[in-house]
Amino acid sequence: MLNFEDDVLPTATPAAVRMGAMAADAAPASGHDYTIASVSTGRIRVEDKRLINGNADVNQLVPIKYNWAWEKYNAGNANHWLPQEINMSADIALWKNPNGLTVDERRLVMRNLGFFSTADSLAANNIVLGTYRHITAPECRQYLLRQAYDEAIHTHAYQYIVESLGMDEGEVFNMYHEVASIRDKDEFLLPFIDTLTNPEFKTGTPENDQKLLESLIVFACIMEGLFFYVGFVQVLALGRQNKMTGAAEQFQYIMRDESLHLNFGVDMANQIKLENPHLWTPEFKERLKGHFTKAVELEYRYAEDTMPRGVLGLNAGMFKEYLRFIANRRCQQIGLDMLYPGATNPFPWMAEMIDLKKEKNFFETRVTEYQTGGALSWD
Ligand SMILES: [Fe+2]
Ligand SMILES: [Fe+2]
Repeated sequence: MLNFEDDVLPTATPAAVRMGAMAADAAPASGHDYTIASVSTGRIRVEDKRLINGNADVNQLVPIKYNWAWEKYNAGNANHWLPQEINMSADIALWKNPNGLTVDERRLVMRNLGFFSTADSLAANNIVLGTYRHITAPECRQYLLRQAYDEAIHTHAYQYIVESLGMDEGEVFNMYHEVASIRDKDEFLLPFIDTLTNPEFKTGTPENDQKLLESLIVFACIMEGLFFYVGFVQVLALGRQNKMTGAAEQFQYIMRDESLHLNFGVDMANQIKLENPHLWTPEFKERLKGHFTKAVELEYRYAEDTMPRGVLGLNAGMFKEYLRFIANRRCQQIGLDMLYPGATNPFPWMAEMIDLKKEKNFFETRVTEYQTGGALSWD
């Protein structure tokens, strides 16, 4: 089998192969974007598929090489939900009742809507304008399309909560400019999102392939895998006390989706490592560890800001331990040593929330199961 270092006459390249390579926008630095195998047979061989810098036609889903991606695509569809299916009437009554929630509880709800309402748009843009074009495995692209739709549903969910509760939309949607603990998290992410979305950025050199891998890891393991978790714990803790159960249920579905996004990102990163072992250098690993350390600090500051005093049986100190526990887990998932040996999980109940089975709906505000697109009715 030849790779992109080999010379092939461009005129001999089938249109579909070239189309695929162009769609991938991932032409290697050498400028070659095809293989002899593709040219001579015109058919995709599973062994020619690569997660990045691949030359096989991206327009042909089969033969599937990366089963984990296809399985996650199907799991994402099976988890489908829509915000309007969730009854918000109890939340609305509680929010509008001056004595319904404490000042600290209201702050926690507002801050989390402020962070998440723009974070999921950032996530969607990162996938559609960035990640998608650099990934040359069609089964991974298939999942990314589902993931992008999930992010649209999440943004919709936050908008739906904000609108249902009659919140000041301008205040909520501008928090990522105006609230330092939120802005700092987003500013940490922006350089990595810029790498992927920059039209000039191309994979195909060790340096750029490392940048891609770094950005994918930051997006999955830090943005989706760490920066979301203080908010998830806080809103789900409210729901566990029978407060804001509609919002909590939406967060529960979102967390289940994000858990899949995270695991897909981890699988992609590990597959890229497997196919490109030269990228996983000691310097690169140190750089990643630095990102995790910084992210734990930023998310801890977010915990302190959203929760200046203990609330709902939670306090910021518990989150310090929790974030260390999560960072350890993320590092292990991608093959890095634990950063905080001995950290334990102060919120073991979160595991059962992530493993939600739809038929065992914890908050029981959603009255009908989503099946295959049929209209739902309220009983
Ligand atoms: Fe999301
Ligand atoms: Fe996500």
